[in-house]
Formats: sequence, C-alpha cells, structure tokens
Amino acid sequence: MTQAAAAVAREKPSDEPGDGPVVVTGGAGFIGSELTRQLVEGGRDVVVVDSLVNGRRENLAGVEGPRCTLRTDDVRDEAAMAEALRGAAVVFHLACLGVRHSLHSPRENHDVNATATLTLLKLARAAGVERFVQVSTSEVYGTALRVPMGEDHPTCPLTVYGASKLAGESYARAFLATGGLPTVVVRPFNAYGPRCHHEGDSGEVIPKFLLRAMAGRPLVVFGDGTQTRDFTFVSDTAAGIAAAGFAPGAVGATINLGSGHSVSINALAQQVALMAGRSVEVVHDLPRPGDVHDLRADASRAAALLGYAPSVSMVDGLRRLRQWYEESGVPIERLLEQEVVRNWEGSARVDV
Ligand SMILES: NC(=O)c1ccc[n+]([C@@H]2O[C@H](COP(=O)([O-])OP(=O)(O)OC[C@H]3O[C@@H](n4cnc5c(N)ncnc54)[C@H](O)[C@@H]3O)[C@@H](O)[C@H]2O)c1
Repeated sequence: MTQAAAAVAREKPSDEPGDGPVVVTGGAGFIGSELTRQLVEGGRDVVVVDSLVNGRRENLAGVEGPRCTLRTDDVRDEAAMAEALRGAAVVFHLACLGVRHSLHSPRENHDVNATATLTLLKLARAAGVERFVQVSTSEVYGTALRVPMGEDHPTCPLTVYGASKLAGESYARAFLATGGLPTVVVRPFNAYGPRCHHEGDSGEVIPKFLLRAMAGRPLVVFGDGTQTRDFTFVSDTAAGIAAAGFAPGAVGATINLGSGHSVSINALAQQVALMAGRSVEVVHDLPRPGDVHDLRADASRAAALLGYAPSVSMVDGLRRLRQWYEESGVPIERLLEQEVVRNWEGSARVDV
C-alpha cells in the first residue's frame, strides 16, 4: 500500500475528513495527475478540475472513469467552482500558472494563483468542505538565507509567481483563523518524474536535461550552475500532499515537502549524463532574473505530522523518468521539438 493509500485508509479520528468525494484542482497536471492516481488507489472518488491550459487529459489515462471525473472548468469561474465543490470532503488546490508565466503575464498569474484561491476558499467554506489543502511552493521563501529551510524561514519571493502563491497560502491560513475552514498549507520543493513538463512556459530542468542528454545534445545551464535545488520524485511529493488531506493534527500547519538533500545544477548535469550513458557537453547561458540561488528543505515537520518519508532516490528517479520516456513510444527528437531553450525574460534566446 502506498503512503497515500495508508493515509486514506487510516482510522478516522475526530478532525479527519469523512468518506465523501475529493476535488483536485489542477488534477490533469504533472503533480495533480499523480495525486489523483494515488487518491483513487486509496479508495476515494475524485473530481478533477482542470482547464487543460497546461494539463492534459492523457495524464489521467487509466484513472479517468467511474471513480474519477474531469471537469474542464477554469478555477476563476465562480459558478462552476460552486458546483464542483458541492459535497466535497476535501479540496486539494493545485491549479495555478507557473513561474515563467508570471514574468510575461503577472496580472493573469495573480488572478489565477491568488484571487481564484480566495474565491475557492470562500466557496469551500460555504459548501462545508471538511479540509482544504493549499498547495503552495518553496518559491515563497526566495533564496535560502540558511539551509536546511524550516517553515519558519523568512518568506521573500522573488517572482510574482512566488508572491501570488504566498498570497494564496496566507488566505488559506486566514480562512482557518477567522473563517472556520480547516486548512493545511504544503510547500513542495522541486518535483520531477513522469508527466513533468519539458515544453514551453512550464519546462523544468530535469526533463529538459534528460531529453537533451538522451538525444546527445548539449545541456544548457543558466548562470554558473552553482545554484542548488532540492528535487523530489513526484510520487513522494504527491504522497505528502495526499497525507495532508487526511492526517489527524495537520490542520493549521504549514508543511515543507522536499527530500532534505540538495544538488547543484552542475552536479545534476553530470548525473543526467551518466544516466543517459554518454558524455554530454554543458553550455552556460546568462543567469535567470529572479532565479533563487539555493533551496533545501527541512522536511522534519512533514515526517512528524504526515508520516512523510520520501523513498525514491535521485538515481532511481532519473532511471524511472528515462524509462517512462522510452516506453512512451514518442521519439525523443519529437519531444525536443516542443522544448523552448530560452531564459526567463525571453530575450536571451540561445540556439544550441
Ligand atoms: N512542479 C514542481 O516542481 C512544483 C514545486 C512546488 C510547488 N508546485 C505546485 O504544485 C502544483 C502543481 O504543479 P505542477 O508542476 O503539477 O504544474 P502543472 O502546470 O502541471 O499543473 C497545474 C495545472 O493547473 C491547471 N490550471 C492552470 N490554470 C488553471 C485555471 N485557471 N483553471 C483550471 N485549471 C488551471 C493546468 O492546466 C495544469 O494542469 C502547483 O500549485 C505548483 O505551484 C509544483
């Protein structure tokens, strides 16, 4: 039984939500689709809300059906959200627009990530939702002043994305303090694994590196590559989020979800090259504006409150992701056609 399934199946103390259906906003996205899988496996009926702006119906292949329905609604649509939340025991709120999007479209980023969260909290309270899990991000911290970063580390986001996610989590805490809605905030650190984004605005470093390495193309590092990140395999991240929906004693907490280990982008490039089984050239481009330098989680609160125990090592996670690409049947060169190699401000396009 997975960690999530165990959390779902655990005996129900008084503050634990009942057996009703759960809503996963952003459930056709990278992390949301893995979370949805784990929840269905744990015996829950799931309503996924996803506009498919960055998510894909294919991400729910094999899970969409009688136990899991997809509503292709926008979380900014208040009437549709009131309907989606009716009868829900738990809401897992993941729908959002990402960090690169926030650089070219800050207002829309705020509208989706902050304003729509406020609306959902209001609707959840009206619908009598028993627990609301606000999925925030480590980006709310800004760059690390010290590592590992506990939840009491100062928050100083460097992007509108981070700021809008901080607003969303602040609203969630406020709705617990003064609105009577049981809320939990989780702050995942960088996740990777099957269904992660290699393309466009949402593209992430690990899938980009891995696909390029598999195709024998150079890896593009923005800046000098000494920046560090705490990467977690997506099944571990999703298990932590699921546990936050059901674990007794989690309401009111703000909880990091990370591996507790960090790796520099230069070291990651070497690991990916090893995994691809070939020597790979690394080229450096300008540093990204607003790119935080260091992130490493102190995940001890997650362990204590949620029983969170990430189990997939970096080597194993990279191997699983490579295997997933190989088994997808899509030629690597075709996937790479969707990749955009550009810096965050969009002006320093590099053709490599
Ligand atoms: N991927 C990571 O490394 C990471 C790290 C920290 C936090 N997070 C958080 O985890 C959550 C999921 O991230 P992800 O990486 O899976 O991203 P994702 O883009 O794959 O998932 C977000 C989903 O939200 C949907 N969405 C966007 N705007 C919407 C709208 N207006 N209405 C309805 N649906 C909408 C998208 O279509 C997408 O499927 C986000 O809240 C993100 O902030 C992710």
